[in-house]
Amino acid sequence: MSSEVRRAAEILRAGGLVAFPTETVYGLGADASNAAAVARLYRVKGRPAEHPVIVHFASTEEAFRYALQIPPDARALAAKYWPGPLTLILNKSEKAKDFVTGGQPSVGIRVPSHPVAQALLKEFGGGIAAPSANRFGRVSPTTAAHVREDLGSDVDLVLEGGQSEVGIESTIVDLSQGAAVVLRPGKISREELERIVRIQEKDQSSPRHSGGLERHYAPRTPARLVPTHSLDKEISRLKDRVAVLAFSRPDERVDYWLRMPRDPNAYAQKLYAALRELDTAGCELILVEAPPEAAEWAAVRDRLVRACG
Ligand code: TXA
Ligand code: MG
Repeated sequence: MSSEVRRAAEILRAGGLVAFPTETVYGLGADASNAAAVARLYRVKGRPAEHPVIVHFASTEEAFRYALQIPPDARALAAKYWPGPLTLILNKSEKAKDFVTGGQPSVGIRVPSHPVAQALLKEFGGGIAAPSANRFGRVSPTTAAHVREDLGSDVDLVLEGGQSEVGIESTIVDLSQGAAVVLRPGKISREELERIVRIQEKDQSSPRHSGGLERHYAPRTPARLVPTHSLDKEISRLKDRVAVLAFSRPDERVDYWLRMPRDPNAYAQKLYAALRELDTAGCELILVEAPPEAAEWAAVRDRLVRACG
């Protein structure tokens, strides 16, 4: 146990805020049982109070104490994917307070696998409420440096844990209404989930979910998705200083070009750092080459569509 982790747990116990690495993105953590700490978390994050936050635990057993009942599908998914990049939405027990659920009858729970997150959760010994450690609506952080850039002294401690391996937020599966519904795609794909449970289409009755807002995970610079076949035409048409995120080689007419991997997992890992870099390139517009339509690109496509508003 490192002394940093011990200090982090003390800060949480005292009602402070600790940013910590997870395998998906960095989280901004507060004691999930402390109303004042969670209120401060929402203030720093700039998140509306009615938006629920995910509660993190060291083990499945602890996580399930926040649930009223545990459907067999939840047990099966937890057994396969926890610790890991999966969040389950279940009907809440009295342990999950209204101030973490946004007043909803359900709660989002997750057991992360990152060793530093695990160490912190074990040392703290309770649930840690943690949204991604960025300001509301902005690009999620995948390094400790990103968190410091975004939140500065508004956070009491940032635990260092290297670059997040997955790079995009957890897959969210809602099991609170009976049938399993994917609220947010992630590294664990729908196809993988369907090997274990039946997944139903999302409909209007799905719970509130800020990741479901249209413009989210967004850079400050306006961004636009462009199909591969019209990328060249778009570039020659533009008069603005433009930054491009693409699979192909740099085009010399373009001021700032970042080349992305053709593998969806490698792409996801780099995505947020790339959007941050392009955002600081001093361009008027970011053009993003659209990824393939294939199912394995669903999570990356979801984030790009939102980043492009
Ligand atoms: O990978 C992740 O999930 C990261 C790391 C830090 O664990 N966390 C994360 O948290 O992405 P956040 O707050 O940025 O996104 C959580 C999403 C939000 O869209 C929120 O609305 C939804 O989960 N959510 C949380 N609890 C919910 C609930 N009870 N019902 C419906 N949606 C919920
Ligand atoms: Mg977020």
